[in-house]
Amino acid sequence: MYNDISNTIHESSLLFSNYEAGSSIKKALEMGRDDILFELKASKLKGRGGAGFPTSTKWMLVAAATGADKFIICNADEGEPGTFKDRVLLMNAPFLILDGMVVGGYTVGAAHGYIYLRGEYVYMRQFLEDCLNEMREKNLLGENICGKEGFHFDISIVMGAGAYVCGEETALIESLEGQRGEPRNRPPYPVNTGLCGAPTTVNNVETLAAVPHIILMGGEKYAERGTSASSGSKLFSISGDCENRVFMNSTGESR
Ligand SMILES: Cc1cc2nc3c(=O)[nH]c(=O)nc-3n(C[C@H](O)[C@H](O)[C@H](O)COP(=O)(O)O)c2cc1C
Repeated sequence: MYNDISNTIHESSLLFSNYEAGSSIKKALEMGRDDILFELKASKLKGRGGAGFPTSTKWMLVAAATGADKFIICNADEGEPGTFKDRVLLMNAPFLILDGMVVGGYTVGAAHGYIYLRGEYVYMRQFLEDCLNEMREKNLLGENICGKEGFHFDISIVMGAGAYVCGEETALIESLEGQRGEPRNRPPYPVNTGLCGAPTTVNNVETLAAVPHIILMGGEKYAERGTSASSGSKLFSISGDCENRVFMNSTGESR
């Protein structure tokens, strides 16, 4: 039913290497929050949504912020023309992203996460809902996750409003709140005053997908990959007149 382009994905790619769903959550819950932030900092992971902001700094700021509620948002709006890296990850490695959100929720102290899913990606919503239900059945979402007393976390999917600007994190937050998707003036920044005024981390799909690998392999090891300016793996979308192509229509069917 869903496209499988795994035969076109290079086997040595870190993002698509074998990953046992839930394993990074279990390991993260055995670590302290500070240890997770330490590994994330050591990984030198920079956000893959465009601005390249260090993920450890963003999570540290939300973890340190005061607020009864905190949120983690997965930015799956992917509106950049010709870009489809997040779509490939969502459909081929959903548990990397969802587990990354759970680890993020635990680290920053959030009890709820949202996936802001590009309107045109509505065809993958049921697939992702099925993944979320599978996680609930395994207690990888819900109350006292994996027996960790007091750690409650769940994820909801919200469809994007179909505007390019809604990929910008403050416009996205406005849209999530049911307002017109227009960017907010900053400061204050979402890490302090985000969704419904609560401390919020907005992370790109690919950024979140890197987190389970960092937890499992350690930050330093992750930082050995990539370039001196940007560690880890990076997924690129190549579209247009290419030799190897996967055709995909608007319902996600490939041929
Ligand atoms: C006009 C505009 C559109 C954007 N669209 C996206 C998008 O589609 N997906 C995304 O992840 N980030 C997008 N961003 C960047 C987000 O504002 C934000 O920096 C990012 O989601 C943070 O995630 P990261 O730290 O993991 O990179 C956009 C920014 C601007 C200014």
